[in-house]
Amino acid sequence: MSDEQPNKTIGVLTSGGDCAGLNAVIRAVVQRAGNTYGWRVLGIHDGTHGLLRRLVEYEELGLQLFTGNILRMGGTILGTVNKGNPFAFDMPDGTIEDRSEAFIDGCHELGISGLIGIGGDGSLAILHKLTDGKGIDFIGVPKTIDNDVPLTEFSVGFSTAVNSAVDALDRLQPTAASHDRVMILEVMGRDAGHIALNAGIAGGADVILIPEIPFNVDVIAKKLASLADLGRHHALIICAEAARPKDGDSVMKGGNYGGIGQLLSDQIAAATGAETRVTVLGHIQRGGIPCSQDRIIASAFGVHATDLLAKGAGGRMVAWQHRQVVDLPIADIAGRTRCVDVKDTLVATARGLGISFGD
Ligand code: F6P
Repeated sequence: MSDEQPNKTIGVLTSGGDCAGLNAVIRAVVQRAGNTYGWRVLGIHDGTHGLLRRLVEYEELGLQLFTGNILRMGGTILGTVNKGNPFAFDMPDGTIEDRSEAFIDGCHELGISGLIGIGGDGSLAILHKLTDGKGIDFIGVPKTIDNDVPLTEFSVGFSTAVNSAVDALDRLQPTAASHDRVMILEVMGRDAGHIALNAGIAGGADVILIPEIPFNVDVIAKKLASLADLGRHHALIICAEAARPKDGDSVMKGGNYGGIGQLLSDQIAAATGAETRVTVLGHIQRGGIPCSQDRIIASAFGVHATDLLAKGAGGRMVAWQHRQVVDLPIADIAGRTRCVDVKDTLVATARGLGISFGD
């Protein structure tokens, strides 16, 4: 298919939990589509919901909107949802309905021949299934602070979340040292320990706890004792929200992971007599100004995704591999998740630094 399709209209939407860098992807799509191809870009509101509503909810994203600030903004100018799978949609009367046809009708109503969806692995798989064989080319852009989308080294939003966690450790260290306390920082990540592992190394943690390496509190107590032998009576512990003890399960709160920090605090205090304090970083990791790394990845993903639509490609996800933006079949990520590989170079680095995983 030729690159010259001046009357083409494409859609862009954000789906799943927000993170920093989503607007930078949207901006890159609009810049590339408008400047290079002369296409119309429609921004769909609230993920898939915008295409299910009647009237369809969207806005035209003209080049004039992008005056310089949107690249820097956290969140998503289009809004997003992390529930409401059109194949099993929760209706107001409590029933569940397959609304996938309504989604496609919404696309046709807008005259969209290509759709760029910025989402996590779950959202991308659903968007691919919705559009597959329906005459709408779909390109997925991976985003998530958890960095658990398979086959890409980076997802948009991860680096900013890591920076927030490192900043928290930088703030916790002096207060830990001043009071001889053990500070526990609980970070997000769902089933993957990437945020805790990366931030723990960069932020000088003494202990990193991740779901991929179950811990034993006695081992953590020994690590704290070895620090005390060196004359250091304070410590930094970073734990992923799904970190779990060798003989137990992850801690849940209201349907999500949460609460492991407090449990650890109680157990470490009981085992060592140390004064402990817990900080739960929470959604601070999701908001904020995207860091340069996220803006760079977002820009490369947005341009490449638009170029794929220009080539008539569909059913593909852009990815970051070996310092390059690449693309691969979305089907390749189905049913997979990218957790920390315990043989990962960063696990070896942490161990080499004397950081304990509590194992
Ligand atoms: O997937 C991103 C994430 O921030 C996870 O790290 C966290 O477990 C979850 O979403 C929180 O979801 P919510 O925003 O619904 O509280």
